[in-house]
Amino acid sequence: MNKRIIIFDTTLRDGEQVPGAKLDCRQKLIIARQLVRLGVDVIEAGFPASSPGDREAVTRIAKEIKGPIITGLARAVKSDIDALWQAVRHAKRPRIHIVLGASDIHVHEKLNINRDQCLKMGVEAVRYAKSLTYDVEYSTEDASRSDFDYLCRVIETVIKAGATVINIPDTVGYAIPDEFGRLIRRIRKRVPAAAKVGLSVHCHNDLGLATINTLTAVKNGVDQVEVTVNGIGERAGNAALEEVAAILNTRTDYYKSCTNINLREITPTSRLVSRLMNIPVQPNKAIVGGNAFCHSSGIHQDGILKSRANYEIIAPEAVGVQRHSFVLTARSGKHAVRHRLQELGFELPEQQFRDLHRRFLQLADERKQVSDDDLLMLVNS
Ligand code: KIV
Ligand code: ZN
Repeated sequence: MNKRIIIFDTTLRDGEQVPGAKLDCRQKLIIARQLVRLGVDVIEAGFPASSPGDREAVTRIAKEIKGPIITGLARAVKSDIDALWQAVRHAKRPRIHIVLGASDIHVHEKLNINRDQCLKMGVEAVRYAKSLTYDVEYSTEDASRSDFDYLCRVIETVIKAGATVINIPDTVGYAIPDEFGRLIRRIRKRVPAAAKVGLSVHCHNDLGLATINTLTAVKNGVDQVEVTVNGIGERAGNAALEEVAAILNTRTDYYKSCTNINLREITPTSRLVSRLMNIPVQPNKAIVGGNAFCHSSGIHQDGILKSRANYEIIAPEAVGVQRHSFVLTARSGKHAVRHRLQELGFELPEQQFRDLHRRFLQLADERKQVSDDDLLMLVNS
């Protein structure tokens, strides 16, 4: 039996922190509706204390969006928690998400307090949130750079205070997969109460490890993963929702886990987020990049035409791409050129095809790509 992993989407909060990606209330609602179609379990809709506009957007989402848990971010202070609660209290399933530093760097250098003061602040925040609602997530910010004993003390104490989900963020993308997996295992061993709450991870991509760190945490027993569409987020971004979901789906044999994500909605969601946030997706991006299902070399095109299994581990249609595509270049072989001509309605006799292919290679050597119009020109000349 595969374990069901909770997908916590933070595109509208961490994702929206990307410079230039700011959305208005209407745009946030459009994305939230699409996230429902995509099948996420939790929507982190914003950071209500940050601005009246965000407060309004989180409120509208909490009122209108049905299905997922609706949350937003609050620092461990009463005014943030109040602002968040005023917005999410309209949701059928509201959650308060509190973040507070756990590493000495954050405790001493950012908050300018000591560990005990920080722990007290966290506990008071959880108790206050708990007086407002049942579901309270506590994020131990910078967990991967925290002192292990202190981190466990924080986790144990905030669970006692009422936290229902504990998040272990790799806030600065510092963790290495093996080490991060071991951290999750050690927390589970040291804090038995963690088995009674949800354990979550939130990985940043500063070293390009966000997705693998997230998956290694899944392998080591976390219940929830925090991700964003197209991997957008602070600095180098967060673990990409589409990568995590597609990997868990493709390699169920290894991870023995599944999600509620409707994979066919992945590409429409990616395009919507990219368009509304004005952040292009890099062409070679896994799953959602323009080239993810585009075959260019002759060897590959020939292989695909013989059997898709040769070079495709995911069917493009399964993630909402209409079909794979071939780009015709000087590296394309006869098989691909003939195939494209057939698609365009031309069945040429062998001698005529050979002549066309010779002229195709001359043209392809001169330019990066041969278009359909170029092919038609070759047929007619
Ligand atoms: O990166 C981080 O630690 C966060 C927290 C709010 C979870 O975004
Ligand atoms: Zn983050």
